[in-house]
Amino acid sequence: MQFRQLLPAPAAVQLPELLDSLELRAQVPAQRPFTIANFITSVDGRATFQGRSGRLGDDGDRALFRGLRDQADCVLVGTGTLRAEHYGRLIHDPDRRRRRAERGLDPEPLACIVSRSGEVPIDVPLFAEPEARAVVFAAAPVDTGNVAARVDVVRLAPGALTLATVLARLRTDYSIRVLLCEGGPTLFGALVRAGVVDELFLTLASKLTGGGDGETLTHGPEVAELDQLTLLWALERAGSLFLRYALPAR
Ligand SMILES: NC(=O)c1ccc[n+]([C@@H]2O[C@H](COP(=O)([O-])OP(=O)(O)OC[C@H]3O[C@@H](n4cnc5c(N)ncnc54)[C@H](OP(=O)(O)O)[C@@H]3O)[C@@H](O)[C@H]2O)c1
Repeated sequence: MQFRQLLPAPAAVQLPELLDSLELRAQVPAQRPFTIANFITSVDGRATFQGRSGRLGDDGDRALFRGLRDQADCVLVGTGTLRAEHYGRLIHDPDRRRRRAERGLDPEPLACIVSRSGEVPIDVPLFAEPEARAVVFAAAPVDTGNVAARVDVVRLAPGALTLATVLARLRTDYSIRVLLCEGGPTLFGALVRAGVVDELFLTLASKLTGGGDGETLTHGPEVAELDQLTLLWALERAGSLFLRYALPAR
Protein backbone atom coordinates (compact mmCIF):
# COMPACT_ATOMS: atom_id res chain seq x y z
CA MET A 1 0.00 0.00 0.00
CA GLN A 2 1.39 3.38 -1.03
CA PHE A 3 1.64 6.36 1.32
CA ARG A 4 2.87 9.88 0.63
CA GLN A 5 5.82 10.58 2.89
CA LEU A 6 5.96 14.25 3.93
CA LEU A 7 8.81 13.92 6.41
CA PRO A 8 11.73 13.31 6.66
CA ALA A 9 11.75 13.87 2.86
CA PRO A 10 8.90 13.95 0.37
CA ALA A 11 8.57 10.56 -1.34
CA ALA A 12 6.10 7.89 -2.31
CA VAL A 13 6.63 4.97 0.09
CA GLN A 14 5.30 1.44 0.35
CA LEU A 15 4.24 0.53 3.86
CA PRO A 16 5.69 -3.00 4.15
CA GLU A 17 9.13 -1.81 3.00
CA LEU A 18 8.98 1.18 5.31
CA LEU A 19 8.10 -0.98 8.33
CA ASP A 20 10.78 -3.53 7.46
CA SER A 21 13.31 -0.68 7.50
CA LEU A 22 12.47 0.28 11.08
CA GLU A 23 15.20 -1.91 12.63
CA LEU A 24 13.44 -1.88 15.99
CA ARG A 25 15.47 -4.90 17.08
CA ALA A 26 18.69 -2.89 16.85
CA GLN A 27 17.58 -0.61 19.67
CA VAL A 28 16.52 -3.00 22.44
CA PRO A 29 17.44 -1.79 25.94
CA ALA A 30 18.99 -4.27 28.37
CA GLN A 31 16.25 -4.17 31.02
CA ARG A 32 13.07 -4.21 28.94
CA PRO A 33 11.80 -4.60 25.36
CA PHE A 34 11.93 -1.76 22.85
CA THR A 35 8.40 -0.49 23.36
CA ILE A 36 6.21 1.11 20.72
CA ALA A 37 2.58 2.13 20.91
CA ASN A 38 0.04 2.47 18.13
CA PHE A 39 -3.06 4.65 18.39
CA ILE A 40 -5.58 6.43 16.26
CA THR A 41 -7.45 9.62 17.09
CA SER A 42 -9.94 11.78 15.27
CA VAL A 43 -9.00 15.36 14.41
CA ASP A 44 -10.94 16.41 17.54
CA GLY A 45 -8.74 14.17 19.66
CA ARG A 46 -11.06 11.23 20.35
CA ALA A 47 -9.70 7.70 20.47
CA THR A 48 -13.13 6.13 20.10
CA PHE A 49 -16.40 6.64 18.29
CA GLN A 50 -19.40 4.76 19.65
CA GLY A 51 -17.16 3.05 22.17
CA ARG A 52 -14.60 1.58 19.78
CA SER A 53 -11.69 2.74 17.67
CA GLY A 54 -12.53 0.81 14.49
CA ARG A 55 -14.73 3.35 12.76
CA LEU A 56 -12.07 6.06 13.09
CA GLY A 57 -9.74 4.06 10.87
CA ASP A 58 -9.53 3.32 7.17
CA ASP A 59 -7.55 0.95 4.96
CA GLY A 60 -4.30 2.82 5.59
CA ASP A 61 -4.72 2.69 9.36
CA ARG A 62 -5.60 -1.00 9.26
CA ALA A 63 -2.52 -1.71 7.12
CA LEU A 64 -0.32 0.10 9.66
CA PHE A 65 -2.03 -1.75 12.54
CA ARG A 66 -1.34 -5.11 10.90
CA GLY A 67 2.14 -4.11 9.77
CA LEU A 68 3.20 -3.14 13.30
CA ARG A 69 1.87 -6.44 14.64
CA ASP A 70 4.05 -8.16 12.05
CA GLN A 71 7.11 -6.45 13.58
CA ALA A 72 6.32 -7.23 17.23
CA ASP A 73 7.28 -10.13 19.48
CA CYS A 74 4.48 -9.27 21.87
CA VAL A 75 1.28 -7.20 21.88
CA LEU A 76 0.46 -5.56 25.21
CA VAL A 77 -3.16 -4.63 25.82
CA GLY A 78 -5.31 -3.58 28.75
CA THR A 79 -8.43 -5.44 29.79
CA GLY A 80 -10.67 -2.52 28.76
CA THR A 81 -9.45 -2.69 25.17
CA LEU A 82 -9.51 -6.48 25.07
CA ARG A 83 -13.16 -6.30 26.11
CA ALA A 84 -14.27 -3.32 23.98
CA GLU A 85 -12.50 -4.40 20.83
CA HIS A 86 -13.39 -8.08 21.31
CA TYR A 87 -9.84 -9.22 20.58
CA GLY A 88 -9.34 -12.21 18.32
CA ARG A 89 -6.28 -14.01 17.03
CA LEU A 90 -3.43 -11.52 16.59
CA ILE A 91 -2.42 -12.66 13.09
CA HIS A 92 -5.13 -14.41 11.09
CA ASP A 93 -3.42 -14.58 7.72
CA PRO A 94 -1.29 -17.75 7.28
CA ASP A 95 0.99 -15.94 4.77
CA ARG A 96 1.82 -13.28 7.34
CA ARG A 97 2.52 -15.97 9.93
CA ARG A 98 4.77 -17.78 7.47
CA ARG A 99 6.68 -14.58 6.62
CA ARG A 100 7.29 -13.96 10.32
CA ALA A 101 8.62 -17.49 10.76
CA GLU A 102 10.95 -16.96 7.77
CA ARG A 103 12.33 -13.89 9.56
CA GLY A 104 13.05 -16.01 12.65
CA LEU A 105 10.08 -14.74 14.66
CA ASP A 106 7.33 -16.78 16.27
CA PRO A 107 4.45 -17.08 13.80
CA GLU A 108 2.30 -14.89 16.05
CA PRO A 109 3.16 -12.38 18.74
CA LEU A 110 2.59 -13.28 22.36
CA ALA A 111 -0.42 -11.44 23.79
CA CYS A 112 0.28 -9.76 27.14
CA ILE A 113 -2.51 -8.54 29.37
CA VAL A 114 -2.19 -6.65 32.64
CA SER A 115 -4.93 -6.60 35.24
CA ARG A 116 -5.10 -5.55 38.86
CA SER A 117 -8.58 -6.96 39.40
CA GLY A 118 -8.05 -10.30 37.64
CA GLU A 119 -11.25 -9.64 35.70
CA VAL A 120 -9.87 -10.57 32.31
CA PRO A 121 -12.52 -11.04 29.57
CA ILE A 122 -11.58 -14.61 28.74
CA ASP A 123 -14.67 -14.93 26.57
CA VAL A 124 -13.06 -12.87 23.77
CA PRO A 125 -12.14 -14.95 20.68
CA LEU A 126 -8.39 -14.66 21.33
CA PHE A 127 -8.65 -17.15 24.19
CA ALA A 128 -10.64 -19.66 22.14
CA GLU A 129 -7.78 -19.99 19.65
CA PRO A 130 -5.63 -23.08 20.41
CA GLU A 131 -2.57 -21.63 18.64
CA ALA A 132 -2.67 -18.31 20.50
CA ARG A 133 -0.27 -17.72 23.37
CA ALA A 134 -0.87 -15.20 26.09
CA VAL A 135 0.55 -14.14 29.41
CA VAL A 136 -1.57 -12.35 31.99
CA PHE A 137 0.17 -10.35 34.72
CA ALA A 138 -2.38 -9.95 37.46
CA ALA A 139 -2.67 -8.92 41.08
CA ALA A 140 -5.66 -11.20 41.70
CA PRO A 141 -6.71 -14.70 40.59
CA VAL A 142 -7.62 -15.10 36.92
CA ASP A 143 -9.92 -17.91 35.82
CA THR A 144 -8.43 -19.47 32.68
CA GLY A 145 -10.12 -22.84 33.19
CA ASN A 146 -11.99 -23.04 29.90
CA VAL A 147 -9.65 -21.35 27.46
CA ALA A 148 -8.17 -23.13 24.43
CA ALA A 149 -5.22 -20.74 24.07
CA ARG A 150 -1.99 -21.37 25.96
CA VAL A 151 -2.18 -18.84 28.76
CA ASP A 152 0.33 -18.23 31.55
CA VAL A 153 -0.92 -16.33 34.55
CA VAL A 154 1.79 -14.52 36.48
CA ARG A 155 0.45 -13.53 39.88
CA LEU A 156 2.15 -10.56 41.50
CA ALA A 157 1.37 -8.85 44.78
CA PRO A 158 -0.61 -5.63 44.18
CA GLY A 159 2.41 -3.49 45.08
CA ALA A 160 4.66 -5.52 42.78
CA LEU A 161 2.45 -5.24 39.67
CA THR A 162 4.25 -2.34 38.05
CA LEU A 163 4.75 -1.86 34.35
CA ALA A 164 8.52 -1.77 34.88
CA THR A 165 8.27 -5.26 36.41
CA VAL A 166 5.98 -6.52 33.64
CA LEU A 167 8.32 -5.26 30.92
CA ALA A 168 11.39 -6.68 32.68
CA ARG A 169 9.69 -10.07 33.02
CA LEU A 170 8.70 -10.01 29.34
CA ARG A 171 12.32 -9.40 28.41
CA THR A 172 13.89 -11.99 30.73
CA ASP A 173 11.26 -14.74 30.98
CA TYR A 174 9.73 -14.51 27.48
CA SER A 175 12.68 -13.12 25.43
CA ILE A 176 10.53 -10.26 24.16
CA ARG A 177 12.61 -7.71 22.28
CA VAL A 178 9.96 -5.63 20.50
CA LEU A 179 6.77 -4.86 22.42
CA LEU A 180 3.77 -3.22 20.78
CA CYS A 181 1.20 -1.57 23.05
CA GLU A 182 -2.22 -1.31 21.41
CA GLY A 183 -3.80 0.51 24.32
CA GLY A 184 -5.98 1.51 25.73
CA PRO A 185 -5.66 5.00 27.18
CA THR A 186 -5.43 3.82 30.82
CA LEU A 187 -2.59 1.45 30.07
CA PHE A 188 -0.86 3.85 27.70
CA GLY A 189 -1.03 6.70 30.22
CA ALA A 190 0.59 4.45 32.81
CA LEU A 191 3.34 3.44 30.36
CA VAL A 192 4.05 7.10 29.55
CA ARG A 193 4.25 8.02 33.25
CA ALA A 194 6.55 5.04 33.82
CA GLY A 195 8.85 6.41 31.09
CA VAL A 196 9.00 3.12 29.20
CA VAL A 197 7.61 4.08 25.77
CA ASP A 198 10.21 4.45 23.03
CA GLU A 199 8.01 5.35 20.07
CA LEU A 200 4.43 6.32 19.39
CA PHE A 201 2.74 5.67 16.06
CA LEU A 202 -0.23 8.01 15.91
CA THR A 203 -2.80 8.06 13.14
CA LEU A 204 -4.67 11.32 12.90
CA ALA A 205 -7.85 10.22 11.16
CA SER A 206 -9.48 12.89 9.01
CA LYS A 207 -12.74 12.64 10.92
CA LEU A 208 -14.57 14.61 13.61
CA THR A 209 -16.62 12.89 16.32
CA GLY A 210 -18.35 16.13 17.34
CA GLY A 211 -18.10 15.35 21.05
CA GLY A 212 -19.53 12.61 23.21
CA ASP A 213 -17.79 10.62 25.92
CA GLY A 214 -15.12 9.16 23.66
CA GLU A 215 -11.75 8.29 25.09
CA THR A 216 -8.67 10.40 24.56
CA LEU A 217 -5.18 8.97 24.09
CA THR A 218 -4.21 8.83 27.77
CA HIS A 219 -6.01 8.47 31.10
CA GLY A 220 -4.77 9.13 34.60
CA PRO A 221 -2.57 11.69 36.31
CA GLU A 222 -0.36 14.08 34.34
CA VAL A 223 3.37 13.54 33.99
CA ALA A 224 5.58 15.64 36.28
CA GLU A 225 7.28 17.32 33.32
CA LEU A 226 6.37 17.55 29.65
CA ASP A 227 8.76 15.65 27.40
CA GLN A 228 9.60 16.95 23.94
CA LEU A 229 8.88 14.26 21.36
CA THR A 230 10.80 13.96 18.10
CA LEU A 231 8.77 13.59 14.93
CA LEU A 232 10.42 10.82 12.91
CA TRP A 233 7.85 10.40 10.15
CA ALA A 234 4.84 12.11 8.73
CA LEU A 235 2.96 10.14 6.09
CA GLU A 236 -0.31 10.96 4.38
CA ARG A 237 -2.85 8.71 2.76
CA ALA A 238 -6.46 9.52 1.89
CA GLY A 239 -6.35 12.66 4.02
CA SER A 240 -5.18 10.93 7.20
CA LEU A 241 -1.80 11.61 8.77
CA PHE A 242 0.42 8.84 10.06
CA LEU A 243 2.90 10.21 12.56
CA ARG A 244 5.79 8.42 14.18
CA TYR A 245 7.28 10.01 17.29
CA ALA A 246 10.32 9.08 19.36
CA LEU A 247 10.07 9.67 23.09
CA PRO A 248 13.19 10.75 24.94
CA ALA A 249 15.27 7.97 26.49
CA ARG A 250 15.02 7.68 30.27
N1 LIG B 1 -7.99 4.81 19.37
C1 LIG B 1 -7.19 3.83 19.68
O1 LIG B 1 -6.14 3.68 19.04
C2 LIG B 1 -7.54 2.91 20.82
C3 LIG B 1 -6.61 1.93 21.20
C4 LIG B 1 -6.96 1.09 22.24
C5 LIG B 1 -8.17 1.21 22.88
N2 LIG B 1 -9.04 2.15 22.50
C6 LIG B 1 -10.34 2.30 23.20
O2 LIG B 1 -10.09 2.57 24.55
C7 LIG B 1 -11.14 2.04 25.34
C8 LIG B 1 -10.59 1.24 26.50
O3 LIG B 1 -9.71 2.07 27.22
P1 LIG B 1 -9.41 1.88 28.75
O4 LIG B 1 -8.45 2.95 29.11
O5 LIG B 1 -10.68 1.77 29.50
O6 LIG B 1 -8.79 0.44 28.80
P2 LIG B 1 -7.34 -0.24 28.83
O7 LIG B 1 -6.23 0.70 29.08
O8 LIG B 1 -7.27 -1.15 27.66
O9 LIG B 1 -7.58 -1.18 30.07
C9 LIG B 1 -7.64 -0.66 31.35
C10 LIG B 1 -7.50 -1.82 32.29
O10 LIG B 1 -6.25 -2.47 32.04
C11 LIG B 1 -5.62 -2.81 33.26
N3 LIG B 1 -4.50 -1.92 33.47
C12 LIG B 1 -4.22 -0.76 32.82
N4 LIG B 1 -3.09 -0.22 33.31
C13 LIG B 1 -2.64 -1.06 34.24
C14 LIG B 1 -1.52 -1.05 35.11
N5 LIG B 1 -0.63 -0.06 35.08
N6 LIG B 1 -1.37 -2.07 35.96
C15 LIG B 1 -2.27 -3.07 35.98
N7 LIG B 1 -3.37 -3.14 35.21
C16 LIG B 1 -3.54 -2.14 34.35
C17 LIG B 1 -6.69 -2.59 34.34
O11 LIG B 1 -7.43 -3.78 34.32
P3 LIG B 1 -8.31 -4.32 35.56
O12 LIG B 1 -9.49 -3.39 35.63
O13 LIG B 1 -8.68 -5.70 35.13
O14 LIG B 1 -7.49 -4.26 36.79
C18 LIG B 1 -7.46 -1.43 33.75
O15 LIG B 1 -8.76 -1.31 34.27
C19 LIG B 1 -12.00 1.22 24.42
O16 LIG B 1 -13.15 1.96 24.11
C20 LIG B 1 -11.15 1.03 23.19
O17 LIG B 1 -11.93 0.92 22.04
C21 LIG B 1 -8.76 3.03 21.48
